[in-house]
Amino acid sequence: MKERIFIGVAWPYANGPLHLGHIAGCYLPADIFARYHRIKGNEVLMVSGSDQHGTPITLQAEQEGKTPAEIASKYHQQFLECWEKLGISFDLFTRTTTVNHAEVTHDIFLALYNKGYIYKGTMSLPYCPTCQRFLPDRYVEGTCPYCDYPGARGDQCDRCGKPLNPAELRGIRCRHCGATPQMRDSEHLFLKLTAFRDGLLGWVKTKSHWRSNVLNFTYRYLEEGLKDRAITRDIDWGVTVPLPGFDDKRIYVWFEAVIGYLSASKEWSRGKGDPELWRRFWQEPVRSYYFIGKDNIPFHTIIWPAMITGYGGLDLPYDVPANEFLTLEGEKLSTSRRWAVWLPDYLASYAAEPLRYYLSANMPETSDADFSWVEFYRRNNNELVATYGNLVHRVLSFTYRSYQGRVPDPGAPDEASQALVQKARDTLETVDNHLYHCHFREAVRAAMALAQATNRYLDDTSPWKTIKTDAGKASLALYTAIHVIAALKTALYPVLPFSSQSVHNYLGFSGKVEDQGWHIVPPTPGQQLQSPSPLFVKLEETEASKEKAKLGILST
Ligand code: MF3
Ligand code: ZN
Repeated sequence: MKERIFIGVAWPYANGPLHLGHIAGCYLPADIFARYHRIKGNEVLMVSGSDQHGTPITLQAEQEGKTPAEIASKYHQQFLECWEKLGISFDLFTRTTTVNHAEVTHDIFLALYNKGYIYKGTMSLPYCPTCQRFLPDRYVEGTCPYCDYPGARGDQCDRCGKPLNPAELRGIRCRHCGATPQMRDSEHLFLKLTAFRDGLLGWVKTKSHWRSNVLNFTYRYLEEGLKDRAITRDIDWGVTVPLPGFDDKRIYVWFEAVIGYLSASKEWSRGKGDPELWRRFWQEPVRSYYFIGKDNIPFHTIIWPAMITGYGGLDLPYDVPANEFLTLEGEKLSTSRRWAVWLPDYLASYAAEPLRYYLSANMPETSDADFSWVEFYRRNNNELVATYGNLVHRVLSFTYRSYQGRVPDPGAPDEASQALVQKARDTLETVDNHLYHCHFREAVRAAMALAQATNRYLDDTSPWKTIKTDAGKASLALYTAIHVIAALKTALYPVLPFSSQSVHNYLGFSGKVEDQGWHIVPPTPGQQLQSPSPLFVKLEETEASKEKAKLGILST
């Protein structure tokens, strides 16, 4: 039966370039998952967009001497180019500054307000006497009241992950001038999260399939941390508040950003020419997955579900497979200390698939994982090129040359060929299972084990030699290898979509690899092959030290 899968992916702040941490954290796993479900024949909608409001954008605009809108469009454009090159296949990647997004946000806001889930109240907010303004979110820093981290920002603590209000911070200071702000009362609107606590607790109890890091964080937060939260700010960059008396305030960036999942679905739907299509992914049986990094967990397992519940009639998340962090050369990534590998820089020098391969084989699924340049080069050369790329290339180019560009006739199978073909079938099933459960590392490992077994089979059967002494044996060995390659191009398609498409064509198939479905379709004997080119290139390992030098690491 066809399944219906909604995939929401975290909306990156359009205040700077993407780095590899973002890719490993959510964009690559989401894309693998979407491609997997599409090739399985399921109905998929994958959306996201750039998060263009909030203090991350206004702070960056001040730094670059530009308007928030200029900053947001600049990075939005850059994101789109990155998705294209890296092969991140969104059905729609939009932005939070569209008219549609404001409309959908207003609709949800007013529905919650009319049901009493949003109410007016006063909030004590830091006001900087020197800068003469209220200091929202990232304009202040102080000590986290939950874990005592001294560098916590006014919106969230980077150490314990708890969302914060500026007033909760201890020893608060203005990030602009360092002055100690005064606390002043101001009228704001609050989301009554406390009304949803028991309901959410009951709902989370049904989520035994969630990753334990996500489940534990959510439980802990529901048990100790749930408070009503202010969802307006004294700022002029953001979605307006659809109530009189709030002209000089805007909706809090997190409240509206999560609504992007719904507004993007509606935009996609209109773009498809059927404004009701979004309902298939929100109001009918569907499984909704939200791919995010671990710092976004509470917004997706508590705040957004609370908003959906209060609004009513929309599907709650089925799973939130949040990844842990990617470290770089053993240290935590930091954009402020510029300890990161920026995606546009990477893509200027390398192809997409070595990165897709390395990050999925080493994905921070259950614990942090490290990106190291030496390891990147090693895995490209020893695994992607040596194990998989060379397998495909030596089999297809030798066959192409020796059989006038046609698939050989295998004759009767023998024990070894049957065993290998069986292994290919088992592998496709194993990979299927792993991907279904978002176990990306294991999926890659299983597929690569099949490639290795095929290399061993070829070493044993040596068709390059037997072709002169026992032509039948050579044909069987080559045909069997081609059969397995047909399985590998399917199993690896979600991770390596570009090279899988090439293999599909080299094998003599036309159309898209995705349209063939999740089956092994071995080419028929006599089928016309296409002259193959190598799938991947070997990288000069000494270059790894140049990349390290760019980070400021001296090679030893
Ligand atoms: N912009 C946020 C971040 O980079 C993520 C927003 S996810 C959304 O951490 F769902 F709220 F959009
Ligand atoms: Zn903290």
